[in-house]
Amino acid sequence: MNAQRTLVLCKPDIVQRQLIGRVISRLEKKGLKIIGMKMLRVDEDLARQHYQEHVEKAFFSDLVSFITVSPVVAIAIEGNNAVEVVRRLMGATNPQDAAAGTIRGDFGLNLTRNVVHGSDSLGSAKRELALFFSQEELQDYSLEVEAWL
Ligand code: RTP
Ligand code: MG
Repeated sequence: MNAQRTLVLCKPDIVQRQLIGRVISRLEKKGLKIIGMKMLRVDEDLARQHYQEHVEKAFFSDLVSFITVSPVVAIAIEGNNAVEVVRRLMGATNPQDAAAGTIRGDFGLNLTRNVVHGSDSLGSAKRELALFFSQEELQDYSLEVEAWL
């Protein structure tokens, strides 16, 4: 067991299209545990911190405009190898390339409006979770079903 925590964001497109529940359901069905969740409006400052690695990229302003346009749902996830498992569940960055059966593959068509965010490494996960959640907002609890996963 390699217990890890990671951050998922339901991006503004998913909130506007009323598909939040479908995304949460995919995470739960996989056996991942939700340890924190909130809806919030990302402001420009948080967007810039969250996407700091992309600050020099040509698409950076599109990225910031999109993530701040409407509320997002931030979800803290815990599970075995959760960082990589979540990235695989999400699929390729461009929903047009994402395999059918992945969240992006099933719910998106547009590179900017690409449905979800998932931390890309354990280091990013730690940094991003701290941006979106305080320690008190993350729940330490066990699920009976864990023995069956
Ligand atoms: P995310 O951070 O949102 O989970 O996405 P990712 O790791 O799969 O992709 P990343 O390389 O971190 O890119 C962040 C977001 O920028 C947009 N993007 N646009 N126009 C472009 O060439 C381009 N490339 C990336 C995507 O919306 C991606 O989610
Ligand atoms: Mg990324």
